[in-house]
Amino acid sequence: MGDLTTERSSATGTAPVLVASNRGPVSFGTADDGTLTLRRGGGGLVSGLSAIDDPNAVWVCAALNDADRRAAREAPHGRLDLAGHDVGGQAVRMLDLDPETFAHAYNGVANSTLWFVHHLLYATPTAPAFDADFRTQWADYTAYNTAFAEALAAEAAPGAAVLVQDYHLSLTPALLRATRPDLRIGHFSHTPWAPPEYYRLLPDDVAAAVLTGILGADRAGFLTERWARAFAACCEAVLGATVDHEALTVTHAGRTTRLGVHALGADADFLRERAHRPDVDERLTALRTAVGERRTIVRVDRTELSKNIVRGLLAYRHLLRTRPEWHDRVVHIAFAYPSRTDLAEYRDYTAAVQQLAAEINAEFATPAWQPLILHVNDDFPRSLAAYRLADVALVNPIRDGMNLVAKEVPVVSDHGCALVLSREAGAHAELGEDSLVVNPYDVIATADALHAGLTMPPEERAARTKRLADAATALPPQQWFLDQLNAL
Ligand code: F6P
Repeated sequence: MGDLTTERSSATGTAPVLVASNRGPVSFGTADDGTLTLRRGGGGLVSGLSAIDDPNAVWVCAALNDADRRAAREAPHGRLDLAGHDVGGQAVRMLDLDPETFAHAYNGVANSTLWFVHHLLYATPTAPAFDADFRTQWADYTAYNTAFAEALAAEAAPGAAVLVQDYHLSLTPALLRATRPDLRIGHFSHTPWAPPEYYRLLPDDVAAAVLTGILGADRAGFLTERWARAFAACCEAVLGATVDHEALTVTHAGRTTRLGVHALGADADFLRERAHRPDVDERLTALRTAVGERRTIVRVDRTELSKNIVRGLLAYRHLLRTRPEWHDRVVHIAFAYPSRTDLAEYRDYTAAVQQLAAEINAEFATPAWQPLILHVNDDFPRSLAAYRLADVALVNPIRDGMNLVAKEVPVVSDHGCALVLSREAGAHAELGEDSLVVNPYDVIATADALHAGLTMPPEERAARTKRLADAATALPPQQWFLDQLNAL
């Protein structure tokens, strides 16, 4: 696997700050002539890391596809910056992992197991079943986490700060501490954390390993207090760890890990500027033409099981069935761009969304009115145009670490937008007061909330949107990142 063995050294590197995440800040493709093409990504972590202007900072990430693997292989020790790639403000070390090891770790354990546990996604009469295949995947997840720990150990300067991200890398903090006890290690979970009863679906040794892996960090960060307390509760129930509920610390096997809460916010400056560029204006004009004078209900998600798109569509159908006054007066714009398509559950879910959307249009459309516009391809400027246009935003996840769409829409909205928000989204902790809050499983209550949003007086909508935007931007990504770094 890549340079696993060559990097097992006691020599230290020069990076004072390091970030580790499965998905890095860049990805590669292959052009028709066989050359590599580079694409820079966005997101909270990319913006966050831009807060430190240090070219010696290193971001360690995995190669996700064949072109990434080739770029990583052709670069010295996977250091893309040293191979001349323009990767942004920091150095990037991309790990060329064996494709099967990576697939087992990412698809098998991270996305099909830990993601399902934390988002409560299993249909438990039949799943999960932890069999011999799972054990192979788990061994590869351990190898993948080890590869990250070894790369970090090789790049980190003495006493460096290392910020390890998410459920893909739950074992890395403890593995890294074992070889580099001098480092200050943080772990941050971008997902919810499962309650103990559900978490204990995992095999006992796996449940314990994930917790002790994270407890290898000096500090474990979460998006909300609710997820931090759920983690602490799992440490108590599974490990018998001692939790100080006041100070939010977990003590296990002689070490104490502090828990921290950092509610990642929307990047207002970036969003407001980006949402008024010509490509967004163009798409806004096209959407306005399609919608006419009608009201709009907008949702924008990855096609992700936890986003609850199917129940959102059922709620819209219920609205149209029970409140015919909305016929020809509302359009639901649903953008559900592809995600994790290697997994059958995600492909089936996308098909279910498309099927239900077609049924709704078949039931209600007239020659003059298409009640539902569904797009399943990703187009960021078009999403921003929909944010600007929305009268009601529907954000109804089954469970969500934060949900940045809920925070972005009020920032970008042109005329104020009512937010229908699941009480199970992390964003609810900050936005609940000015949202129309729903139980995500209750389709009828969600339809009622959509109706309440559509009929909310414009002044009230504008006032709520202003407060929502203020709350949503309270902790911009740069500050979110610096706070964690300073707390280490
Ligand atoms: O926390 C969840 C997360 O890892 C996010 O950081 C990211 O937006 C999302 O899942 C997408 O995941 P993937 O890298 O699998 O596409």
